[in-house]
Amino acid sequence: MSIMDDDREVGKLEKQWWKESVVYQIYPRSFLDSNDDGVGDLGGIIEKLDYIHDLGADVIWLCPIYDSPNADNGYDIRDYRTIMKEFGTMKDFDKLLSEAHRKNLKIVMDLVVNHTSDEHEYFQKSRQNPANRYRDYYIWKDGKNGSEPNNWGSAFGGSAWKYDNAVKQYYLHLFAEKQPDLNWENPEVRRSVYKMMAWWLEKGVDGFRMDVINAISKDQRFLDGDAALGQKYGSWGKYVNNGPRVHEFLREMNREVLSKYDIMTVGETSGITTDDALKYAGFDSHELNMVFQFEHVDLGSDENGKWNDRPISLHDLKEVVTRWQTKLNGKAWNSLFWGNHDQPRAVSRYGDDGKYREKSAKLLATLLFTLQGTPFVYQGEEIGMTNVPFDDISQFRDIETKNAYRDLIRKYPENIEKVMRLIRARSRDNARTPMQWDDARNAGFSQGDPWIPVNPNYREINVKNNICDPDSVYHYYQAMIHLRKKYPALIYGTYSPFLEDHKQIFCYQRTLENQSLLILLNFSENTAEIRLPEEIAAEGGKLLISNCRFPKNEFLAGTMVFQPYDGNVYLMN
Ligand code: NOJ
Repeated sequence: MSIMDDDREVGKLEKQWWKESVVYQIYPRSFLDSNDDGVGDLGGIIEKLDYIHDLGADVIWLCPIYDSPNADNGYDIRDYRTIMKEFGTMKDFDKLLSEAHRKNLKIVMDLVVNHTSDEHEYFQKSRQNPANRYRDYYIWKDGKNGSEPNNWGSAFGGSAWKYDNAVKQYYLHLFAEKQPDLNWENPEVRRSVYKMMAWWLEKGVDGFRMDVINAISKDQRFLDGDAALGQKYGSWGKYVNNGPRVHEFLREMNREVLSKYDIMTVGETSGITTDDALKYAGFDSHELNMVFQFEHVDLGSDENGKWNDRPISLHDLKEVVTRWQTKLNGKAWNSLFWGNHDQPRAVSRYGDDGKYREKSAKLLATLLFTLQGTPFVYQGEEIGMTNVPFDDISQFRDIETKNAYRDLIRKYPENIEKVMRLIRARSRDNARTPMQWDDARNAGFSQGDPWIPVNPNYREINVKNNICDPDSVYHYYQAMIHLRKKYPALIYGTYSPFLEDHKQIFCYQRTLENQSLLILLNFSENTAEIRLPEEIAAEGGKLLISNCRFPKNEFLAGTMVFQPYDGNVYLMN
C-alpha cells in the first residue's frame, strides 16, 4: 500500500513505534497474585504476558513497583532502585523485562518524581539538620500568623502543609502527608532524578509515564489560592500546574536523559489546554512524546470537584474529543484513554453497565481505537469490568476516597446516602479491585485474602468467559486492535467530525491519502436515525467491523437506523 511505502513518514507525519503501539496498563497490586499473599506481584504479571500479547498490546505501563510504605499504593516511593517486597525482587523484575522483550512487549515504568515518600532517605536527612545539603531537597516554609504558609489544600483533603516538630517549619505535600514535594528549583534534586532515570533506562526499560509532571515547578511566591465561598482551603492549581519553570526542567530532562534513548514518554498533566499540550509534546518541543489530558474525565465536575454522579453529555464529550483531535493534528500526538487506576470503570462512567454492558463497552472500544493518538487500555477494561457495588466506607482502601468521605460527611451530615452515592460513582477503588480471571475463588486472583475484595460480579464477568465466547468484549478489543494495525488511516489519518449537533450519534471520518474510514456510533440507549451528509452518502462505503452480533447497515446509505449503542466502522469507496 502506497501509504506505508515511505519508511519514515506517513501523510505528513513522522512514523514512530510509540504512535503505532497499543498500551496495556497494569496495576500490579490487583493484577495476579502468584504467591497467595493477597497482593498481586511481578510473578503474576510474568504468568500473563501471553494474555497481554494475544490481546494485541505492544507496551505495558506498570504502575509503581518500587519500595514504598504504600500510603498511596506505591505513589509514595521510599527507594527508587528497589522493588516493593510484596511485588518481588529485582531478579523478578529483570525476568519480567527479558520475558516481555522476548515476546516483543515493551515495558514503560511509572516515574513519580514530583514527590517522594516521607520515608525516603532524602526526606529523612532533610528533616535532620538545617545545615545538611538535603534540607533544600524539599519545600520547607515558615508558618504565617501562627498558621500554614498559605491556604493551599491537598489534593487528598486537608491542608497541603504539614508542620514538622523537629524542623519547626512546614513542608509542602500536594498529595498525602506522607508524600512531601521535592524542590525542583534545586539543581541537585534534578540531577539525582535524571541519574535514577538513566539507571532504569540502562536496564532496558522502554520509557516512562510521568506522574503529575506538570506540577514540578511551583510559583515561588507561594501565594494563597482561590477558595470557594466558605471553604478553608484554596486551590494551588494556578500556581503549580504548568508552573514557571516546568518547560525548562523538561527540556533539561530531555537533553540530559530522554533524548539518549528510543523510548516512549507520556506525562500526566491534569488541567492543561491544547496549547499547553503543544508545549509539552509538540513534535518540536523537545520535552515529551505525549501527555494525558483529563478534560473528558473531568466533565460534570461541580462544587464537590470530581465527586458527582452526573451522566456525561454526549455533546460535551464530542466537543472535547474533536477539539483535541483537531488542535493537535500535525503538531503533537494525543494519548487516548477511558480509564486508569484513578478513574471509575469506563463502561460504568461512559457506557451502560447494566442491560447494554457488553455492547456499550465495545462501543467505547470502537471510539478508543479509531481516534488519532496512542490508545491505553486499563486492565479489566478489555473484559468489560464494571464499578463495584460498595455499600460501606469500610470496604474502601484508597486514601483519597477515605479523606473525601470524611469531608463530604462533614458537608452533608444528614445525607450519608448521598455521600455514599458520590463515593461509589467516582472512587478510584472501582478500578482497583482484583482482575477477574475466572469464576473460581477470588476470581482466580489469589488463594489468599485479597487486599481489597473482589467485585461480586466476577462469576459472570471474567477472562475465562470472555475467551470462550467469540462475541465477547475481549474478542472485540482484539479485533479492533487488529483493524487499527491494518488501516494506517486509523493511526495517522486526519479526523473530520460530522453530525456534530446530533444528540445520539458520534460520527467522524479518518483519512490518509486515498484511504478513508467512517465511524458511526450510537451513544444512547435509544434507536437513532441518521441522515448522512450528501458527500458521504454519495461516496458510499462498506462495513468493516460492528459491535452488533448480527450487523445491519452493511453499506453506508443516506438514511440509516442504528439500534442502542450500535457502533460501526466503514471503509469508504
Ligand atoms: C497521580 C496518580 O495516578 C495517582 O494514583 C496518585 O495518587 C497521584 N498522582 C499522586 O502521586
